[in-house]
Parts: sequence; C-alpha cells; structure tokens
Amino acid sequence: MTAPSNAIQSTLVENRVFPPSDATVAAARVAGMAGYEALCAEAENDYEGFWARLARENVVWNKPFTQTLDQSDAPFFKWFQDGELNASANCLDKHIGTPTENKTAIIFEADGGEVTKVTYKELLAKVSQFANVLKSKGVQKGDRVVLYMPMTIEGVIAMQACARIGATHSVVFGGFSSKALHERIQDAGAVAVVTANYQMRGGKELPLKSIVDEALAMGGCDSAKSVIVFQRTPTAVNMVAGRDTFMHEEMAAQSTECAPEFVGAEHPLFVLYTSGSTGKPKGVQHSTGGYLLWAKLTMDWTFDLKDSDVFWCTADIGWITGHSYVAYGPLAAGATQIIFEGVPTFPKADRFWTMIEKHKCTIFYTAPTAIRSLIKAADSDASVHPDRSDLSSLRILGSVGEPINPEAWMWYYKNVGGERCPIVDTFWQTETGGHMITPLPGATPLVPGSCTLPLPGITTAIVDETGQDVPNGSGGILVVKKPWPSMIRTIWGDPERFKKSYFPEELKGYYLAGDGAVRSEDRGYFRITGRIDDVLNVSGHRMGTMEIESALVAKSDIVAEAAVVGRPDDLTGEAIVAFVVLKGPVPTGDDAKALANELRNWVGKEIGPIAKPKEIRFGENLPKTRSGKIMRRLLRGIAKGETLTQDTSTLENPHILEQLARTN
Ligand code: PRX
Repeated sequence: MTAPSNAIQSTLVENRVFPPSDATVAAARVAGMAGYEALCAEAENDYEGFWARLARENVVWNKPFTQTLDQSDAPFFKWFQDGELNASANCLDKHIGTPTENKTAIIFEADGGEVTKVTYKELLAKVSQFANVLKSKGVQKGDRVVLYMPMTIEGVIAMQACARIGATHSVVFGGFSSKALHERIQDAGAVAVVTANYQMRGGKELPLKSIVDEALAMGGCDSAKSVIVFQRTPTAVNMVAGRDTFMHEEMAAQSTECAPEFVGAEHPLFVLYTSGSTGKPKGVQHSTGGYLLWAKLTMDWTFDLKDSDVFWCTADIGWITGHSYVAYGPLAAGATQIIFEGVPTFPKADRFWTMIEKHKCTIFYTAPTAIRSLIKAADSDASVHPDRSDLSSLRILGSVGEPINPEAWMWYYKNVGGERCPIVDTFWQTETGGHMITPLPGATPLVPGSCTLPLPGITTAIVDETGQDVPNGSGGILVVKKPWPSMIRTIWGDPERFKKSYFPEELKGYYLAGDGAVRSEDRGYFRITGRIDDVLNVSGHRMGTMEIESALVAKSDIVAEAAVVGRPDDLTGEAIVAFVVLKGPVPTGDDAKALANELRNWVGKEIGPIAKPKEIRFGENLPKTRSGKIMRRLLRGIAKGETLTQDTSTLENPHILEQLARTN
C-alpha cells in the first residue's frame, strides 16, 4: 500500500456552502450541528456505551447482549456477541401489530412500467413462504445460498427468506458472467441457487437461468443441489429435473408462516463478493447484529427518515447499496420504498423524474454516474429534463458510489432538488456495511463535492504511510481508527487475506479503506480523492485491474501479457484502459480494431459487460523496471494522454512508451 502522488494533493477550492434551512433543522432527527456534536461527544466519552445504547434502541433482540465489543482477537472484532436476533424479524415481524403492518413496504415499477405494491404484512407472508421453500430443499442455518436475481420484489423476498432461516446469502449481480458466477458459487460452497428465467432491461429480455446452467456445468459446484427459478417473463427455459423448480409453484405449496431462526449477533448474514487488488474477488462477510443496527440507524440519521417518506434507492441488490438501502435498511426502519427494474434511460431518459412524480418520492438516492448521464441526456433533449416533471415531493437527495464532481452536484441540487433539498454525499464501501462519512440533512452545511464529516461514532482519519495523522489540507490515506458495528468481519474462507488487506501492520491496527482523502483546512471536511490500490471505479462499479488482466491473459492463444489502468472519464468517473502484448506481431489499423473488439467481448464473457475495457492498446512489450516490474504510473500517464515528462530513468525499455503512446 502506498499513497501515490495523486492522493497527496492540493485541497479542492470550493467556496460554496449550503447550510440547511432553519425549518429543515427544526424538523430533523439530528437537529443542527449541536445535535450532531452531542452524538459525537457521547461516542467519544463512552464508545461502547454509545453503541450499546443504539443497539438496544434500534434492534429487536430475542436474547439481549451483555458484552458490547470483544477486541480479544483483533482485527476479528465481535459486537454484541452473546445477543440473539433475526434480521428478517427485525425487518418484518417487528411491524406486525403496529400501524406499519398495513403500510406499503415496496412499490415496484417494472421495466415496462407496470406497478406492484406489497404491504409489510403481505411481504412477511411471502418471505415466510419462500423461507419454507428453502427449508423444504434442505437449506439449513449456516448454509450459503447464491442469488442471481433481477431487481424485483422477489429478489428482496429471497434475501429476507435466507435471513429468516439463518442461511447466509450471497447475491451475485445479474450482469456478471457465468464464469464469475461459477467462481462465487464455488467459493461460497452454496447449497442452492435462486435465479429468474430472464431479467428485463431497457425493453430487452436478458437471460439469467441459462447462465446459471452454464455456471453449474463448469463443475466443482456439487454442493449446489437445487435451483429455484422465479418466472419473471413467460418465456420458457430449460429446467433440469430433480434440480430446478419454479418459485411460484413451490411457494404456493407452502405455509405463509415460518418462525424466524434466531442467530447469534455475529452469525454471517451475507457474503458479498467485491473486487480487490488481486485477481480473485473477495467474499466480504457481514454480521447480523452490527450490520442490521447500522442499516437501520443510517436510514434514520443520514436520510432523516419520517413515517410519511417514500424512499427510493436506485441501486441493484447485487451491490452493497442494494443490500443496506433496499433489502434491509428501509424495511428495518419501516419505510415505504420504491424499487425499479431496468435502466434510467428507458423508455426515455426521464424515467427517474417521472417515477419520482408518479410515486411522490421524498428521498431519492442514486449514483453520480446516473446523474452525469442524465445531465447529458437533458442537455440534448429538453423533453427529458427534470423540469418537465413535478419533483416537489422531494425533500432529500443522496449520492453514492464515487466522488460527485461539483458541477454534477450543482445540477442535481438545482434541477432535481429545486435548491431546496439537501444532498447527502455518502462515502462508504462494501466492507463498511453502511454510511461512514456523510452530511446529515438537518445539520451539516453542504460543500459540493465533499462527503463532509464522519457519522457519530465513526473514527475516520487521514494518515501517512506510518499511520501518523496528517494535517488538514494535506492528502493521505483514509483509515478508520476504531472498530464499528457494521464493519466487515472477514473475507469468506480467507482470514489471512482479510488481515493483510485491511489491517496492514504499518497502520497501527487501523482499518485501511483503500482510498486517498484530504480534509479541508477551514472545516475539516473530507473529500475522497480516489482509490490508492489497484481498484477502479467505473460507473460506481468496483473493478480490480488484476481481475481484468487475468481475464485478458486467459485468452492465451493470442495474449502474452496485459496491464490495465484507469483513466478519468467525464461520464463513467473512470474508464478501463488495457495495454496488451500479443503473442504475434503488434497489429495496426483494422486488424488492431478487430482484435481489440475480440478482446473486449472476451472480457465481457469472462467477467461481465461492466469489465469491458473502453480502450485497448497494443505494444511489443510493457514499460518495465530492470527488475521486471510493470510501471503502471507511466501507463496511467499514457492512458490520460499526458506527454511523457515523467522520470523514466529506471525503465528497462523506454522506447516502448513512445510505441504505446503512438497508438493513441
Ligand atoms: O472509492 C470509494 C468509492 O467506492 C468505493 C467502494 O466501492 P463499493 O465497495 O463497490 O461500494 C460502493 C457503494 C458504497 C470506495 O472505496 N466511493 C463510494 N462512495 C463514495 C466513493 N467515493 C467518493 N465519494 C463517495 N460518496
């Protein structure tokens, strides 16, 4: 781990400040900076007491915990360890017998615009039925179930049903390839796979079940005995007798009651694979108690959730945002939430705005990439501009997944929020389980492009390579100094990698986030400067450069070597650029184009379309040091189109740079 020059950088010169209105402050759960500071002080004065209070107030325990934090086996921290609970009971049963039971839990709008609604009571019945289906398939507490599902109510039902019986789910994003799915089913040792026949995206029917079939046919997945298929569209798919069954048929045969299985607070609620600096994705393991506490509490704090709110997080359940702010947080908090299937640009690029108007959405949470693409669409077609829709129901906006540039922030603030709605720019990660650094809508003065301040109890800091704090204004490495309840517990099946990746010795036991950051000199506000490891953020999706490199060299009939770097991109935040050395001669002209296309498609097949490089350059070699190390710093410069002014004195083969730059 190093803090490269781009992390040690000047501060952002951003003087615009947007404090919350007096009315917003007066009505907020955490009211004003005084409210925020009081919570921070409580955490500082009695860290464990603070978390214990919140855990008692926000989580329903079947058996109360007596110990808050166990640090004896650090960094394998344990929270609320002797407490027992069930995550699904905390999201559903808790509301039964209260006015929330008949409240709409989910408003689902399908790709084609059809709307389905379920109340909390109805959702509980469906989750219970599906939990019984899983049990009938022999799925037991502690077993892993892989979900490869579209964005539908059924996806949430499947997650909640796993939680209900104490099975650990592992959701794989529906855009991943059969190979990526295979790797995850195998690594998790899944006993069952839940999928759909197809998913709908932009008016197109895209396969899911046939990809599951391909993945299982790759072998080594003997643990996976059953495949349960949600019939999303009427189109028939191949069903393997004795292994595959339909979700609706199975559910119809089951009772709508299923007692929740109570589990220890540390029981793994889910494993979610994400990219790291090596080729193999990491199975990020989360707990039940600490995770759920934070999913619920951040709904209240960050989104200032009220009973009357209609919450909409646009993330897919295949990502952590869809776990914490679709499948668990909103339900635990008793919110009405919108779930949408499809893409923001279909049938037109006003889908978000028309849906906000139609469903009277009050809190809208999306990614900067989506905002940037909708700005572009609105600039070229006034009919999809947000000003064509009535967005007056909105009261809070959110951003997640990547840095939001001040221009996009201002557009969002003005055109979507009507200069009325605070924007919560939430910095967090798959590993953190929930928000870490974010404004509070009724407290924090906003600065465009800054995620502002850590939540109460979250001890983020910026340090140098030896773990020493750096002064405000100087960039450095983002760490979290103390454990917090919703943190990653381990990497599934690889505790050593967990320790090495997140708690490197030089950093004094601090959690290493993998991002560079800088605090402003005036307010101490955090601004994230980007990853400091070999992880890219493309359209808010996390991709490991080595993962893409491994995919490229796996095309061993033509590829000898590959190096992948990121390049800033106006639309997608970062774009993937691959430098490839072929086994044959360096191609030019149409040959180069055809080969680049072939390799792009290959990567799409190996990992998924999101991993396809935007640009592929060919050379007879890669720039290397005399000891044979690829100099990525130089490749990043070439990818950006920078002139080669960097120091190349340690380079074995300087002429290669010109060759790679020329193919620009
Ligand atoms: O680089 C940071 C960026 O996304 C990374 C985490 O990606 P992932 O685990 O896929 O989770 C995304 C959704 C939480 C971080 O290491 N990131 C996330 N949110 C922000 C961000 N960068 C800047 N500002 C944010 N608000």
